Amino acid sequence: MTQTQIISNTKFFVQETLKHAEGGHDWFHILRVYNNARNILSNETADSFVVELASLLHDIADSKFHNGDEEIGPQKAKAFLKTQSVDSKVVNHVVNIIKNVSYKGGHSSSDFHSIELDIVQDADRLDAIGAIGIARTFNFGGFKNNPIYDPEVQPNPIQSKEEYKKSNSPTINHFYEKLLLLKDKMNTKTAKKIAAQRHEFMEDYLEQFYKEWNGKL
Ligand code: ADP
Ligand code: NI
Repeated sequence: MTQTQIISNTKFFVQETLKHAEGGHDWFHILRVYNNARNILSNETADSFVVELASLLHDIADSKFHNGDEEIGPQKAKAFLKTQSVDSKVVNHVVNIIKNVSYKGGHSSSDFHSIELDIVQDADRLDAIGAIGIARTFNFGGFKNNPIYDPEVQPNPIQSKEEYKKSNSPTINHFYEKLLLLKDKMNTKTAKKIAAQRHEFMEDYLEQFYKEWNGKL
């Protein structure tokens, strides 16, 4: 099988698997991350096959939607790639990226590193900020039945992985607990540039939000 065929089969597999996914972690999220990754790739020297496969498979079974199980995603990706006769070195690299791409309050338990991981991580993080990031965040907050905003509940930007994962705090707090922290966590020059603009948009959004909340506009 050629790499082009494998990428095309992977797209089909991911689209089928995520048919009923939450709106912020669905096929269109994957497609945006894949496109972000390809954009970043155009300015970096990296293995594009690994980056493309990992960006397509990175949320194949997000632990948030599988009772916190962090193994099921990497396992599912591995099993699929084996059906495509992908070289075991590539499979292992993709699996390592999937294991390490997630934010979870900024906690990572492994010291695995590669430029390909940097790219997929940036691509995923870009989709968490800006106008799309805002939409995804309120969608997720609604999915969890969390309040939109509560001025009595202060954000907590330094949380343990467990606190972060089970948080039911107001969705506006998530901006301070994650979204506004992402611009300084970008790895590549391309992503840093895009993030700066998306960050500014979120700051403007919050300013307007508080004005409206307080009846000042
Ligand atoms: P990752 O899936 O990369 O580990 P997160 O777990 O933070 O990252 O979730 C990805 C996206 O899901 C976030 O960017 C955000 O839009 C949404 N999300 C996650 N946790 C929350 C939350 N507590 N409140 C609102 N949105 C959330
Ligand atoms: Ni993602």
